[in-house]
Amino acid sequence: MKRVDDFRLKFGKQELVPIMVGGMGVDISTAELALETARLGGIGHISDAMVTDVSDRRFDTSFVKDKTKFYKYNIDNADKSGVKFDLGHVAEATRLHVGRTMEAKRGDGMVFVNCMEKLTMNAPADTLRVRLASSLDAGVDGITLSAGLHLGSFALMEDHPRFRDAKLGIIVSSVRALQLFLRKNARLNRLPDFVVIEGPLAGGHLGFGLDWAQYDLQTIVTEIAAWMKQENLDIPLIAAGGIFTGSDAVGFLENGAAAVQVATRFTVTDECGLPADTKQEYFKANEDDIEVNTVSPTGYPMRMLKSSPAIGSGIRPGCESYGYLLDGKGNCAYITAYNREIALHPDGKNISVMDKTCLCTHMRNFKCWTCGHYTYRLKDTSRRLDDGNYQMLSAEHVFKDYQFSVDHQIALPA
Ligand SMILES: Cc1cc2nc3c(=O)[nH]c(=O)nc-3n(C[C@H](O)[C@H](O)[C@H](O)COP(=O)(O)O)c2cc1C
Repeated sequence: MKRVDDFRLKFGKQELVPIMVGGMGVDISTAELALETARLGGIGHISDAMVTDVSDRRFDTSFVKDKTKFYKYNIDNADKSGVKFDLGHVAEATRLHVGRTMEAKRGDGMVFVNCMEKLTMNAPADTLRVRLASSLDAGVDGITLSAGLHLGSFALMEDHPRFRDAKLGIIVSSVRALQLFLRKNARLNRLPDFVVIEGPLAGGHLGFGLDWAQYDLQTIVTEIAAWMKQENLDIPLIAAGGIFTGSDAVGFLENGAAAVQVATRFTVTDECGLPADTKQEYFKANEDDIEVNTVSPTGYPMRMLKSSPAIGSGIRPGCESYGYLLDGKGNCAYITAYNREIALHPDGKNISVMDKTCLCTHMRNFKCWTCGHYTYRLKDTSRRLDDGNYQMLSAEHVFKDYQFSVDHQIALPA
């Protein structure tokens, strides 16, 4: 019976344990989690989502405070089009977050940055160019382009000295999205080094509509693998979404995938950035406590715990401090929904916004509890303590369980 450890992900001459821990913004996949994954020989991710805020917390900088002070005059203004990011600050924060993480890296694995195109930051191309370039400047091993189609992202990096040496990959959920990406980027003569295929059971934003349940990860992997063979393309495929045991992973490794990307099982580890009481919410969740909804202003469906405090919250939009979801004209679907409620309740008291959420503020405060479909199985991965809570796991324990387990067994902590 095969184990994940019988396989290796190959990048040229380098061989890795074929386990990638997926990016989880905002700072849910912390530097500690990514570093531990790399130490164990796999690939870990940090995320550059809301990097100015992450830098303030990690390094005591004051990017968010400074931005808030600068745009304070606009806080009560419904029009956010004038609220811009200082590109120098974005670069500095990215270099700090990524650079310090890379300096601390030990072991044979790698650390990548998860970069979401959907964080449009009121100047989509300019801010994305800076984010990508500063991650490369800071020595990151690779970048995973996520949440968005990213048709122009490779071109934004083409003049960077590391464009051909860093590992660059994309996340897709269909063969069509991959075909589109490759067609649009053909002139660059640079293929992605890896393609993550994310199925409908993943956490975070989904690349599917509300009919997500009709899709199946293995079917999409098989379809993409067959198309690539037909086109004589040799790019490692990385399957993601709902891979809960080492045996699940082996199933994909034997059927077209070169590695797996996993996340949910690491949400209940010491190294994960969620607060301890939130981790207990994840442990205790039952299947009917989880939903895929449309409250994210990005327009993508998102999976989360129904009890997330973000759902229905009517807080004032925090764009003067954050503003990561402002499109190129300074709009965000939450601002529209919030202003509609304000018009109905001019006193501004007890406002509830049901259809959209202020994702920046709530992700930043860990109040949007996004999670994978199998979160309800996390309780089977640990022991219940006398106080009713579950024992926290170490990332090493979970990583090694994926790496060495057979027969769908899940090792409980000592
Ligand atoms: C809490 C959480 C947050 C996530 N945030 C992001 C994100 O910011 N960007 C992204 O590309 N994927 C995100 N994901 C998706 C994961 O990176 C990963 O591909 C997926 O969840 C794997 O499926 P699994 O959770 O069933 O193992 C997130 C997943 C979780 C559980």
